[in-house]
Amino acid sequence: MRTRTIAMLLLAASATACGDDTSAPTPPTDESPCATTDGQCIFRHDTFGDEQLWTDTLRLHELVQGLPPKTALGVGLKVDAEAVPADVLASADLDDPATTVALIQLNAVVGVRGTVENGHVTRIGITCALCHSTVDDSVASGIGKRLDGWPNRTLDPGAIIALTPGLPTFTSSLGVDNGVAVAALNSWGGGKYDARFNQDAESHPVLIPPAYGLRDVALETYTGEGPVSYWNAYVAVTQMGGHGNFKDDRIGLDIKQEPDRVTPMLPALREYQFSIAAPAPPAGSFDATAAARGKVLFEGAARCSSCHTGPSFTDAPTLHAASETGVSPDEARRSATGMYRTTPLRGAWQHPPYFHDGSAATLGDVVSHYNDTLQLGLTAAERTDLEQYLLSL
Ligand code: HEC
Ligand code: HEC
Repeated sequence: MRTRTIAMLLLAASATACGDDTSAPTPPTDESPCATTDGQCIFRHDTFGDEQLWTDTLRLHELVQGLPPKTALGVGLKVDAEAVPADVLASADLDDPATTVALIQLNAVVGVRGTVENGHVTRIGITCALCHSTVDDSVASGIGKRLDGWPNRTLDPGAIIALTPGLPTFTSSLGVDNGVAVAALNSWGGGKYDARFNQDAESHPVLIPPAYGLRDVALETYTGEGPVSYWNAYVAVTQMGGHGNFKDDRIGLDIKQEPDRVTPMLPALREYQFSIAAPAPPAGSFDATAAARGKVLFEGAARCSSCHTGPSFTDAPTLHAASETGVSPDEARRSATGMYRTTPLRGAWQHPPYFHDGSAATLGDVVSHYNDTLQLGLTAAERTDLEQYLLSL
């Protein structure tokens, strides 16, 4: 029965092969499957040649080859149900690593792109969707329709990297003690990642933010490093390990890799991100009357709108010292700006916890934090109203 399921999956994989250049048994290739104008494809499927890190250095393909789907789902990887025929999905054996390989071959693991030859993963890389997409769990937990731009808050990138067989080679190239690196990577936890660890060897993971609702947001990242394409290039080259160029004199980086597979993709990638609207709150998920009272507080007595202004509720490019909001200064200190950007609030209901380091579990905790830090003196009823307003954005 088990063998039959795998055979069906592989059959399905080869059936979708026509017209889908992600499939085997073509020779291994790190070429982009996307046109430079197709931002959605780039966001979902382009590895920018980062197989040079994930296959050649970290040897993630060896890890994946023996990984039961249950374990993969357990570290937050998601399965795109639309890439797998429904009957095949229903009978898939989630304890068998061969199912993982078949899912890779179908290009059904969100944010992971691999080449499978004769049942073996020979090349593997990651895409933006790994961290900035999830699924709607419509088939099962971790299996469903893609939700692009939604942060994957169950993904544990640190734990995955810590398990890769090639990690010691990578850490020695960084000049970081491998044991120290493993301990740091394993401490990050679900939904968090440290995009500066390989620059300064400090470990202060931040929450993976949404990549939706950003069209009118002037500066990206918690610390306002630059506009969206600046950060996309930083991540693609310095974190994903993509084959391309990145330069920022503020942090002393000047990386050149020809051919540059990142830069030509940035305009369409930016437009795709801008096209993703923040999700509206589900019907009935907040109390509209209380939210209306909360709006008055937000714009008045609670002083929130002195920073959270405009259609996306941010005054970026203005930046703020950590002390202005009472959050930890650690991440700002490591950044090029030394400050924090006012986080946009559209769709805030969707992605608890809050603040860059996840220090507030709920929007109610955010309100309590501000009430204490800014000495707002709000009553319990007013705090509830403000929370209801935040849930309505
Ligand atoms: C390993 C997980 C990971 C991958 C892969 C990744 N990101 Fe991110 N992304 C993050 C984290 C963590 C941050 C927060 C960084 C910070 O603010 O310091 C971030 C920040 C961002 C932001 C800023 C959002 C905001 O409101 O400030 C955007 C936009 C973004 N990423 C898009 C992308 C794109 C496009 C790609 C592919 C080129 C990508 N990311 C790949 C984890 C990831
Ligand atoms: C001085 C400017 C300023 C004021 C005033 C301010 N904020 Fe913020 N807000 C920020 C900054 C900066 C951040 C990012 C802090 C971080 O991530 O650590 C933030 C983060 C947040 C977040 C977390 C969003 C997320 O996705 O993590 C929420 C929610 C929020 N603020 C709501 C409010 C409310 C409600 C008020 C009024 C009680 C308020 N803010 C007042 C600047 C401000």
